[in-house]
Order: sequence, then structure tokens, then C-alpha cells
Amino acid sequence: MSGSGGTNRTESDPTSLAERLARAVNLADLAALAEANIERTAWDYYRSGAWDETTLARNESAWRELEIHYRGMVDVSGRHGRTTLFGREVPCPLVLAPTAMQKMAHPDGECATARAASTAGLPMCLSSLSTTALEEVRAATSAPLWMQIYISQDRGFTRDLVARAEAAGVDAFAVTADTPVWGVRERDMRNGFRVPDNLHIVNLERPGGPTGHSGVGIGGALSWTIDASLTWKDVEMLASSTSRPLIVKGLCRPDDVRAAISSGAKGVWISNHGGRQLDGAPATADVLASCVEAARGPVGQPVTAIVDGGVRRGVDILRALALGADAVAVGRPMLWGLGAGGEAGVRRALQILRDEFELAMALSGVRTPAEIRELGIDLVRRRATR
Ligand SMILES: Cc1cc2nc3c(=O)[nH]c(=O)nc-3n(C[C@H](O)[C@H](O)[C@H](O)COP(=O)(O)O)c2cc1C
Repeated sequence: MSGSGGTNRTESDPTSLAERLARAVNLADLAALAEANIERTAWDYYRSGAWDETTLARNESAWRELEIHYRGMVDVSGRHGRTTLFGREVPCPLVLAPTAMQKMAHPDGECATARAASTAGLPMCLSSLSTTALEEVRAATSAPLWMQIYISQDRGFTRDLVARAEAAGVDAFAVTADTPVWGVRERDMRNGFRVPDNLHIVNLERPGGPTGHSGVGIGGALSWTIDASLTWKDVEMLASSTSRPLIVKGLCRPDDVRAAISSGAKGVWISNHGGRQLDGAPATADVLASCVEAARGPVGQPVTAIVDGGVRRGVDILRALALGADAVAVGRPMLWGLGAGGEAGVRRALQILRDEFELAMALSGVRTPAEIRELGIDLVRRRATR
């Protein structure tokens, strides 16, 4: 097993970090830098999808199949990406998705990501499986901090964790709905991946509970943190146990979107866990519009719709908004930035996405996120099949 903890192999490279990051013109360039830096087993853990990785690949390609019917001669000189998420204005409809064990990408881990999110003024969603205490991460960002929750077999533990996070100032919670059991990533099986001995899933440590990380994958000692018996009742209970907005993450069906809202969710997060759970699940770009329609339906108050999976260009943010999303989240690209250069690398990844989004808005003849959503399928349509 790797004793990874952000090995930063390119630190011996005489080119300065700032120069290397500046030369990364897109997210793929950052991924290449990160790959050179990160221990192989950790890299494989980050990059992998479940089974044949078809959903992982479809997540990316499905965005690219959406054509943008841009408008000409629109005064876009005053364009901006500002929008409001759960009552807070953010400069761009972009969220940092929760990804586990960020200290494998860089020793500064989740705090580096949080500081970069803070500089950008963008919401970060902290993973339950973080390698940094949630209070430390809260202190590292003045931007909104959300926390992802797995409802564990120990419901009391989950309630206490939510209360602790609320007391620390976490602004919203995202409960993950696509993980009744862990998906299987075969690269991890081949590598015999397990949590590195020098890292701890600190927010999930229980007094008297197991301290080691025995077992392949993230199962083993952490198997109690998820529960195959979960139902919407559990979401209802979680929603009623917090005063903060609850988002249900990992949905791909309109009926589940309606169930989430009926269970008290204020947000729905269209996601297939970055293709890491059920291989064969549809690309999020393909189900987003129908899920958003369900979210805007007569169930109750309009809720916030977030989407993630395969977003690799700023223009994908525009595509997602046209299909009805309020914001887009990115997972792996943040890990690429982190692996490429810690906080500065995440800042670079966010800057690339924001610059590309702004450029895409200008070239499409739109001025605001609201306008993109209003234009909808007038602006973004699936390529006509010939
Ligand atoms: C390495 C890795 C770890 C992840 N860990 C979590 C997690 O702890 N909880 C969770 O709800 N989602 C987790 N996700 C899923 C992300 O939140 C997000 O849904 C996904 O990465 C989006 O796809 P993208 O990587 O193509 O942007 C993880 C994804 C990756 C790649």
C-alpha cells in the first residue's frame, strides 16, 4: 500500500510552481501535473470509476454533445457570473464537490482547498471522509462551507456529527443517496488500495471505535459509516434535525427528486458520484433537464438544483445552466489542482473554469446565469441525430 500524503515529486523540477501552474492552460494540463506528483495508488483512487468506467466516460462526453446556439450582436460587455445559492451571493455558479481524503493529493489537503475556495468566494462541500477536522476547514474559508453526510449505521453518531458541524458554522448539508454500499473500483482492487496509515478520517472517529483502517478500499473499519437499509424516512429525519438547508446528492430520476423534496430537501444534487458507484448509470447531462423539471414542479417551494459529473470546461457550466441547473459542482478537477500545487493549484483550477465560463457567456451572447437559464433549450440543444 502506498504511504501517500502528497509526495510532490515535481518539487525537484527547477521551474517554479507558479510558472508550472501558469503554463497549465486547461484542466487537463493540471491533471498531467498532478499525475506526476501523486502516488500511483492514490492517483488511481482519484481517477477511477466503477467497473468498466462507462458512466465515468459518458459523464464527460454527454456535455460535449450539447450544441450551443449562440446569439450574435448582444451587448455582453457587462456580463457577470453572479448568482445566489441558499441565500448567499457567489461570483460564479460553481461549487467544489466533496471528495474524500484530500491529504493524499497534498499534505495541506482540505485546508488548501478551502483557502482556494475562500479566495474565489465559492462554496466548498467537505466530504465526510475528509482527512482534516471540519472545524479546521471551517476556519480556512470565509466562503460558504457545506458538509457531505453519509447517514451511518449509527444514527446517533450522524446526528451528533451534524450538530457538531452546525455548531462549527457549516452552512448546509448534502446527504449522499447513491451509496447504500460502496461501488467497486477495480483499479483499487488491483492496487490493494486502503487508507494510508498516516492519514485519518478524522470526522468519523468514534470514541472506542476502531482506529486502524484495515480492509481493502475504504470499506473495512469504515463500513459502519454507510447503511444499506436507508430510506427516505432517514432523509426526513436528517432534514428535521438541522436548521440548515439539506441537499440530497446523487439523484438521477425525477421521482427521486420529488421524493427528496417531499422529505424536506431544499436542494437536489444530480450526480452519479462521478461514475464511482453504479456503472451503467446515465450521464448527468442526459438526466438533468427532466430532474430539474421535477424540482420545479408542484411539490412545493422551488429548490436549488446542482449537477456534477464530467464538467471539465467552463462552457459545460453554461450547458448545465441552460438545462436548468442553478450551479455546477466539480470533483476531480479540484484534486488535480490540489495535486499539481496545493492551494495555488486549486486556485488555478477555479480560475481556469471561471475564465472559460465568462468567455463562453460572451461568445454565446448571454449576460447572466439567470439569462442562460431563461433561454434554456433555445440556447443549448442536443445535436440533431442524422
Ligand atoms: C476521489 C473521489 C472521492 C469522492 N468522495 C466523495 C465523498 O466522500 N462523498 C460524496 O458524496 N461524493 C464523493 N465523490 C463524488 C463527488 O462529490 C462528485 O460527485 C464527483 O466527483 C463529480 O464528478 P467529477 O469528478 O467528474 O467532477 C468523490 C469523487 C471522487 C473522484
